[in-house]
Amino acid sequence: MNILVIGSGGREHALAWKLRQSPHVDRIFCAPGNAGTSEITENVAIPATDLPTLAKFARQNRIDLTVVGPDDPLAAGIVDLFTSEKLRAFGPDKSAARIESSKIFAKELMRTQKIPTAEARTFCNSAEALHHCERLRFPIVIKADGLALGKGVVIAADADTARSTIDQMMNQARLGDSGRRIVVEEFLQGTECSLHALVDGKDYVLLESSRDHKRAFDGDQGPNTGGMGAFSPANNWNKESQSRFDSEIMRPLLRGLREKGVTFRGLLYPGLMITADGPRVLEFNCRFGDPETQALLPRMRSDLLPLLEATIDGTIEQCAIEWDTRAAVTVVLASGGYPGKYETGKPISGLDDAATLEDVQIFHAGTKRDGKETKTAGGRVIAVTALGSDLEAARARAYEAMSRISFENCHYRRDIALTPVAANVTGSL
Ligand code: AMP
Ligand code: GLY
Repeated sequence: MNILVIGSGGREHALAWKLRQSPHVDRIFCAPGNAGTSEITENVAIPATDLPTLAKFARQNRIDLTVVGPDDPLAAGIVDLFTSEKLRAFGPDKSAARIESSKIFAKELMRTQKIPTAEARTFCNSAEALHHCERLRFPIVIKADGLALGKGVVIAADADTARSTIDQMMNQARLGDSGRRIVVEEFLQGTECSLHALVDGKDYVLLESSRDHKRAFDGDQGPNTGGMGAFSPANNWNKESQSRFDSEIMRPLLRGLREKGVTFRGLLYPGLMITADGPRVLEFNCRFGDPETQALLPRMRSDLLPLLEATIDGTIEQCAIEWDTRAAVTVVLASGGYPGKYETGKPISGLDDAATLEDVQIFHAGTKRDGKETKTAGGRVIAVTALGSDLEAARARAYEAMSRISFENCHYRRDIALTPVAANVTGSL
């Protein structure tokens, strides 16, 4: 089979790496890819959001399956376009992708199906939102309705922050149309956990649990990022939470989608807060997590390709996934300044040396080839994943590998899988 992976991050490198191991795969293309994917796939210089050109490429190159990494092409309807051209694509269609691209859609679904989540109200008028906030106990959580590159959630510690956040999102359109409508919700106490489910429209199989570290610096300090590291399995997840997750979250969700006439086929990643009262949904994502995927896939023993196909074909209940029982720890190496302004074009050293370590896998994110050199080309640059008999062993190995890689002004967290992941991040837009 010929496969096209869409995206250019660590997640897409991990997906391509895993698919490369499938005996059913002939050629893999990655659009647009990075320096890492160029070693195992054929990179194609088409942006992930240029849907017509991607479809044309898939037609001309007899692509049997397209795997969509990021959320924006899904929200823009890439799967609808491909399906209309009789091209097979993994991921939800535009209508099902609303579960991530509209927090109001997701909240409404959770309300009607009584899925445990933070109490919330939605607003399209800033005066009404402000008036509502005046009556709440702080902190509160303010969320832009639409996609906002990870910047759409503010945990406001006080009324001043709430006021300025609402003003910036709704009146000044700092997040464009994404912030015109907002959700104001209750602040939940607990620890976070990322779940990944392959959903085939009516049934699902769960991948192993994982957790990510969203904040930039050690001790959960600094601004929120796309994710500075992850580990699997999550240390706050057990059989009881899984059984409640199934009966209180997944089954009602599938029923709710059915009642709305929406068929979700793809990867559903609910972000949960594990509270004293059990799991609560923070958000639903409609694609693989980044960097969770870099921690999960090295633990997956089964071939990923038949699982993706079964998800599309509606036969996922016949599939079981085999897992390596060892733990995985993923550490992200980022450009100085990330998630704010950063420079690119820095030569990266030590990649080959780090890759010689046993049970270590190096995934590229913002990298590009320049002649013989690999240079930085983004905020998150490299993710190093190591397997170990437990989290501590995996952690030690990941940091041993990471210590061999460097570039000017690079930074990484030293406490991935070590400190409890802070659930509670206050801040402003
Ligand atoms: P979201 O994009 O909705 O997952 O929010 C991003 C991050 O904000 C989450 O990973 C949490 O760390 C935090 N967050 C979101 N909603 C809440 C909430 N209701 N209570 C506490 N923290 C939250
Ligand atoms: N790791 C967070 C995300 O993929 O949304």
